[in-house]
Amino acid sequence: MYKLVIKGGTPLNGTVKIAGSKNAALPILFASILADGPLTLTNTPHLSDVSTTLRLLMDMGGEFILESDNSLHINASKLTKLMGEYDLVKTMRASILALGPMLAKYKEAKISLPGGCAIGTRPVNLHLKALESLGAKITVEGGYIYATTDQLIGADIHFEQVSVTATENILMAATLAQGTTTVHNAAQEPEIVDLVNCLISMGAKISGAGTSVITIQGVSNLSGTSHSVCPDRIEAGTYLIAGAITGGKITLKNARHQSMQAIISKLQEAGATIDYDDQSITLDMKGKRPKAVNVKTSAYPNFPTDMQAQFCALNSIADGQSAITETIFENRFMHIPELSRMGAKLTLEGNTVICKGVKSLTGANLMATDLRASASLVLAGLAATGITTIERVYHLDRGYETIEEKLKLLGAQIERIQD
Ligand code: EPZ
Repeated sequence: MYKLVIKGGTPLNGTVKIAGSKNAALPILFASILADGPLTLTNTPHLSDVSTTLRLLMDMGGEFILESDNSLHINASKLTKLMGEYDLVKTMRASILALGPMLAKYKEAKISLPGGCAIGTRPVNLHLKALESLGAKITVEGGYIYATTDQLIGADIHFEQVSVTATENILMAATLAQGTTTVHNAAQEPEIVDLVNCLISMGAKISGAGTSVITIQGVSNLSGTSHSVCPDRIEAGTYLIAGAITGGKITLKNARHQSMQAIISKLQEAGATIDYDDQSITLDMKGKRPKAVNVKTSAYPNFPTDMQAQFCALNSIADGQSAITETIFENRFMHIPELSRMGAKLTLEGNTVICKGVKSLTGANLMATDLRASASLVLAGLAATGITTIERVYHLDRGYETIEEKLKLLGAQIERIQD
């Protein structure tokens, strides 16, 4: 295993290119199951979750070629095994996204129940109920979901709770259903818009993506296509906070401010100067200490839960007291005990963490637990005095492409070393 060693205290300055979005690339890779031919993807991020998805698709009979120009040709049009094995699914919850496409294309699917993870139990009841509304017969036994159908039939779906991947699962299934499906209380994340843009270029008939009502008119088949994955707004937000927490000035290339307004406005409230154009965003903290900012997470377009832990690190050294409330996941506070070991003054009250900003944190030996909590520890280590080591960095590699290389480009003193 590897760990990161960070010598904190250096203001970050420079330019970094934002990679393709993990949470757009994953559903789009599973959408390749729906196509009658290969999908060619560009701007696909080099992440372990992408590798896991490719391994899962290969295990089911898919093939892929990664070109020297980083374009990825994925052909999952003729699966020979309609089963997602536990050993692969357990490492990545998003594997549940194979269910809808397999059911729609092959009329059957068997997929391991994705376990919970550090941030919560993360059930899949909304996925299963919605697929049953389209005519799927679903049983769960022995830790596996078994789904069959004679033919999926379009229906009105009302999600009692907004769910990103449940919305993605049902809209992929509905592309090959007979008739029209209308999804109410759909998630509105930009990653869903990117998935739908790819599906439309494959021949799907979908309207309303990015709003709470998405309509899908079933078609008989979908073809292969080429698609460029949208930028990762959470990676982008994480690097903006890296600039803010170290008092530096950084520019993000290949970042879309349009999908980051909630993050940008909170950073401006914290005292950052932020300018942007169509392809880049520049944050300048001008050496100042951030101001404390209250944050409450909720579904897009509001402040994203995937940025909560990172903002907690920023508030830990901010001037003043603040409250961060997490409304999406029941246990997304695994970063708190670790930040506290660096001297952060954090108190958890129900689903709200009260932060009393301190002038500086002190480096410590830390343990990463989940993807975004790990990012929060890296950010704290960049700002802390002294040395911070972070073990189990495989959590980070799930969602951040070569994080230490990109941070070094910005002037950070950070190394990845073998445990
Ligand atoms: C997606 O997870 C993202 N993952 C998560 O990003 C993100 O945090 C989350 O959406 C919320 O924005 C991918 O897109 C691959 P949900 P997802 O269904 O779809 C409950 C990251 O760090 N729920 O929107 O699994 C659920 O427990 C990851 O990149 C049910 O109760 O999240 C949660 O409380 C972490 N039953 C809430 O809904 C269900 O069937 C929202 O979860 C489904 C969800």
